[in-house]
Amino acid sequence: MNFGTVTQEIISQLKTIVGEKYILTDDENKLHYGHDETEDLIFKPAVVVRPSNTNEVSAIMKLCFEKNIPVTPRGAGTGLSGGALPVFGGVLLSMERFNKIIFIDEENFQVTVEPGVITEVLQNAVKEKGLFYPPDPASKGSCFIGGNIAENSGGPKAVKYGVVKDYVLNLELVLPNGEIIWTGANVLKNATGYNLTQLIVGSEGTLGIVTKIVLRLIPHPTNDVLMLAPFSSSEKACEAVNAIFRAGVSPSGLEFMERDAIELAAKHIGETNLPMQENIEAHLLIEVDGNNMDALYRDAEKISAVLQQFDCGEILFADTAQQKSDLWKLRRSVAEAVKMNSVYKEEDTVVPRAKLPQLLKGVKNISKNFGFKSVCYGHAGDGNLHVNIIKGNLTDDEWNNKITKGIREIFKLVIELGGTLSGEHGIGLVQKPYMEIAFSKIQLQLMKDIKKVFDPKGIMNPGKIFAD
Ligand code: LAC
Ligand code: ZN
Repeated sequence: MNFGTVTQEIISQLKTIVGEKYILTDDENKLHYGHDETEDLIFKPAVVVRPSNTNEVSAIMKLCFEKNIPVTPRGAGTGLSGGALPVFGGVLLSMERFNKIIFIDEENFQVTVEPGVITEVLQNAVKEKGLFYPPDPASKGSCFIGGNIAENSGGPKAVKYGVVKDYVLNLELVLPNGEIIWTGANVLKNATGYNLTQLIVGSEGTLGIVTKIVLRLIPHPTNDVLMLAPFSSSEKACEAVNAIFRAGVSPSGLEFMERDAIELAAKHIGETNLPMQENIEAHLLIEVDGNNMDALYRDAEKISAVLQQFDCGEILFADTAQQKSDLWKLRRSVAEAVKMNSVYKEEDTVVPRAKLPQLLKGVKNISKNFGFKSVCYGHAGDGNLHVNIIKGNLTDDEWNNKITKGIREIFKLVIELGGTLSGEHGIGLVQKPYMEIAFSKIQLQLMKDIKKVFDPKGIMNPGKIFAD
């Protein structure tokens, strides 16, 4: 790509737009803003710019459009596919100062929020009004709502309540040429023209920069029941997942964790009280929620009866709020625990739910054939299995070449099973070589053409989603 250089003159123009204090050019900051949570990858930007309002973003984009400078938007940097990595240098546009909850519309069950608000902060603010914003990525305590929109994130609650896209009504967007638009309307139904809002959700910052977000909310459920079920066979645990739905229950969380995943997480957070017999291969963490405790107990009984048919061990019911939060903390720590343990690659496979046992079996066979270790966990109720491939003692050559072939095999299997490459982490930088496994040339060309309409100069988060 032929991009312009960020000259001193451009830096002083950027300073005029946002104020000197909000421009960073020192090495330490370039390093900090040059990585996210994706593997051990680092790409330093030429300059970090931290605007605080839509007009500043618009002015930055106008300048970069004119000078042909690549711009990479960044939320909290918790992404797992490298979407926020400034692979061509240029301007790193940090949205951290967009941190206001603008308006909670209690009449209409909606909230208007800036993209740099931490997801959990938003959830807590609307909960105070009895309202619920369900999407809860594992990193909800640190990730930004804007990043969640860029990646169309999910999390454990998605199985009952849906993912981010199911809550986004309208977005304020700065286009790559600096123009400002709203993508839709603040309404629950909208059959008016192409759905630009949903095109932007999950577009990984490649079409424009989201500066305001309108989300729909629902009433907050008052009760929940959480249970942890051990299995001596991982495959049986996966088979039990679909049977729970077939029994007529809609869990609000249905998570799968292989033994390694739970052990690494327990070690990582210093949890020592978890009883685990030696023959246990995997656990399901299952939650049901609602407003009627009797109905929830009935659901829990139905689930227990189903699980017995799949040789489950003794089920642990979380009795107290503390116990529940400890179990969820354990689950949410898996990704970080695996990362601390070894260099790794994280795949975000997703298949139709009933195919989950075949996916797990296939992944394990491929791991064996290619000689790598995989730690699997994830949102079993969505058929969304996170496959963490561990470098461990593999040589750099094995890691860089052989593993890529193994990953291709995993993705081919996923497609064969009717699934796709990513359920919630996005394609970003690290999954783009595999896009041609999931899409035909025509499909990819359509996507590239859409990108061109929004971003004719290709300056908006370049080097992402598409292999060339
Ligand atoms: C999780 C993140 C990694 O499910 O998606 O823990
Ligand atoms: Zn996940």
